[in-house]
Amino acid sequence: MTLPAEKLGGAILTTTSKLDLQEIIGDWKAQNLKIGLVPTMGALHEGHLSLIKIALENSDRVVVTIFVNPTQFAPHEDFDIYPRKEAQDIAKLEESGAHLVYIPAASEIYPDGPASTLKAGPAAQGLESDFRPHFFDGVATVVHRLFEHAQPDIAVFGEKDFQQLQVIKEMVKTQDMPVKIISAPIMRDEHGLALASRNVYLSEEGLQIARQLNKVLSEATETGNIEAAKTKVLETGFDKIDYIEKRWNRILAAAWIGKTRLIDNMEI
Ligand code: PAF
Repeated sequence: MTLPAEKLGGAILTTTSKLDLQEIIGDWKAQNLKIGLVPTMGALHEGHLSLIKIALENSDRVVVTIFVNPTQFAPHEDFDIYPRKEAQDIAKLEESGAHLVYIPAASEIYPDGPASTLKAGPAAQGLESDFRPHFFDGVATVVHRLFEHAQPDIAVFGEKDFQQLQVIKEMVKTQDMPVKIISAPIMRDEHGLALASRNVYLSEEGLQIARQLNKVLSEATETGNIEAAKTKVLETGFDKIDYIEKRWNRILAAAWIGKTRLIDNMEI
């Protein structure tokens, strides 16, 4: 399938095929256009749209990928129920200014079956890995493959997944990939809750509790008292804390409300 170049003036180009993706990007590169990539797992929200805006400011053609990556989920996690909203996502992307959306099948990314083939580096140690040991190898593997497919000049990732951002920066260095990683500030709702696709799992009551996390973290950046922050997070109604820790001049947190796991972080 060859996608007509004239579509560029209007609707976003959409492809599920690596070959089509590479043909279109090859054409853009031949015109010396700079390629920006925004990898996502879909269920797009304002946070993703802010990444696209940054990509548009830093490149000539923006490619968004939508792929719910099986290798970053453990068997007991929410891969099967992870929100998939392709039609809504494409409608949002039409308005976003992005030029192309790549929605590969798992076989396109993992022709030999879904398995992580990259080991994440030292930034992956601790924090998320203590609770999701499979996670960063899966992220490093899929991001490496998406970079191989799209050959971007720049790629944008959100600071909400701050440890992930460090792991990806490290992966790009160790794999010697010629792509500049640009980080984007966390987008929050009017109550300070960090936007996340998994927020749709929360009930109205859960949402009220979730909105307290950023307030506790903000206080902890002032007081430096991590133990007090843990106590307060449980007092606000969170059921369980995976971690609240200082690293990279930030306080990073992961905590549960029922079956929903939230992460957030704030600069000290
Ligand atoms: O942050 C995410 O949405 C995912 O971890 C990513 C980077 C798209 C890899 O699947």
